[in-house]
Amino acid sequence: MWKVTLSDLRLHADDHAAVSEVMKSNWLTMGPKTAEFEAAFARALDPQTPPTAYAVANCTVALHMALVALGIGPGDEVIVPSLTFVATANAVLYTGATVVLADIVGPGDLTLCPDDVLAKITPKTRAIIPVHYAGQPCDMRRLVAECKKRGIAIVEDVAHAPLADCIVHDDEPAQALGTIGDIGCFSFFSNKNMTTGEGGMVVTRHPEIAEKLRLLRSHGMTTLTLDRHKGHAYSYDVVDLGFNYRMDEIRAALGLSQLSRLPDNNRRRAEAVALYREKLARIPGLEVPFA
Ligand SMILES: Cc1ncc(COP(=O)(O)O)c(C=O)c1O
Repeated sequence: MWKVTLSDLRLHADDHAAVSEVMKSNWLTMGPKTAEFEAAFARALDPQTPPTAYAVANCTVALHMALVALGIGPGDEVIVPSLTFVATANAVLYTGATVVLADIVGPGDLTLCPDDVLAKITPKTRAIIPVHYAGQPCDMRRLVAECKKRGIAIVEDVAHAPLADCIVHDDEPAQALGTIGDIGCFSFFSNKNMTTGEGGMVVTRHPEIAEKLRLLRSHGMTTLTLDRHKGHAYSYDVVDLGFNYRMDEIRAALGLSQLSRLPDNNRRRAEAVALYREKLARIPGLEVPFA
């Protein structure tokens, strides 16, 4: 047993109450709580113009469906950072596309290096996946400018950075990470900034990509079980090769209560980072990234 735990969950009474309320409702598969969680998450990212958000089973499937929604497949290349969790690259492999690794900036900045991305672009490059490592934004200003010029899509891996933001255009306010590229993918795994146990969110501002993501999440079916249960629909068509990547109501309820504490959790993380920096600075020869 480790003396310092890998992650330390602090579940509050409102988390327990939220889950219990759903259990009593007798509707556990994707339904109104999931829709409420999606709307609240989207508003947290951008209160003025919220993106479309879909809650999903985890961030790995969010990345997979993002690439499928962009039409990426065999013969295509997708650039991912050399330093990330394996899921970022696996999502590319699931589609049959080729993973192309680009380096990170260096030991002081663990995010994707735009110069190396440029060096790795070929006529087959269809997308890049910047990973906002440990809550730190990639150089989105340059990545967006270069990808836009070349018609290359951006799928942001925001597993580590919900509610972090950065300035992309000098004359505009900071934008939430995940809403800057074409699609943003978030993780609610247990060691993340907020958790639903397992869970994720996929967000986009493109209506046509949103519609594809909606279908891909639930078997390519035109209606949901809840629609039919409520008598809003009596049948469905299967119009695409979809997946079962849905979230359930129990996790969505937990997600809602966790989301309400996310700004405070992020602040506490920032305080812990500051403390580590202060203490570690005294150790000669030790370099702390993102200093
Ligand atoms: C950078 C990054 N991307 C994706 C994932 C996958 O997230 P999930 O466990 O929700 O599938 C992780 C998980 O740790 C991660 O660190």
